[in-house]
Amino acid sequence: MPSTPARVLRLTAAATSLVALASCASGLEQATPAAPVVPAAQPSSAPAPAPSPTPVVTPARSATAAASPAGTAKPGHSASAHPSAGPASASPAAPKGPVAQPAPGARVDCGALKCIALTFDDGPGKDTPKLLRTLTGEQVVATFFMQGVNVKAYPAIAKQVADTPGMEIGDHTTSHANLPGSSKEKLTREITNNHALLKQTTGREVKVFRPPYGARNASVDQVAGASGEAVVLWDVDTFDWKTRSASATRDAVRKGARPGSIVLMHDIHPSTVNAVPDIVRDLKADGYTLVTVSQLLGDPAPGKVYTRRG
Ligand code: NI
Repeated sequence: MPSTPARVLRLTAAATSLVALASCASGLEQATPAAPVVPAAQPSSAPAPAPSPTPVVTPARSATAAASPAGTAKPGHSASAHPSAGPASASPAAPKGPVAQPAPGARVDCGALKCIALTFDDGPGKDTPKLLRTLTGEQVVATFFMQGVNVKAYPAIAKQVADTPGMEIGDHTTSHANLPGSSKEKLTREITNNHALLKQTTGREVKVFRPPYGARNASVDQVAGASGEAVVLWDVDTFDWKTRSASATRDAVRKGARPGSIVLMHDIHPSTVNAVPDIVRDLKADGYTLVTVSQLLGDPAPGKVYTRRG
């Protein structure tokens, strides 16, 4: 849906009250003013602490980058295009037109490339494997913010996501709780325990956290940070939970995407999973490199809040 009603909804107290009523309420992610409240705390942390042996993919618009990232790589991590006021995004050199996608797990220089991160919340779900097939078929990666109840319901699918090269897993609490105002004990159950469950189920030490509804405060950030997790919100809300329409979801991404964007979707909705092939093709055609949120943000700092890059 277009942004105008969205903004109205964001601001309504009524919407916030709905949060408590929703069962999973993935859709109410946007009901709280989380994203606008927090200035994009951009990585003072951007420079990677140490050079990585992994090649950095830079904007050579090569058709062969996917197959051979080393061909377009340079050693170490380039922090030269550290984002500030002007979007990293601006990426003047960003090509228009399809670009080859980096190999899964490659270090990607999103200060120079036109990067975007697709994120899928609330799963895993029964359609998640179909989504994985789409993503791998298109040779792109994404980030999955999983809630514990569904990790327990679909442990093999959670593991399948983790075992798919390049995919990132994030913490989306144990039971999709609305966290602000919670006791320290509840925050531990929801955040810390889900971090442990994800490690146990998938083998991954997750580094990113997304609060349900985007609802957070300093206590939430602190508990996430203590688990080594950065707090990752979004700047493009597809309202896929609301429209349940593949075409509307696709349009929302097409209209909202900017270099450096983090896109919110939900893989528990078949309409969203059905929209992804077109979304990926649209973004590729517009010159985007699809990355995980950690790739986009460049090693996000635990406890810090991000809404996009730049
Ligand atoms: Ni959610």
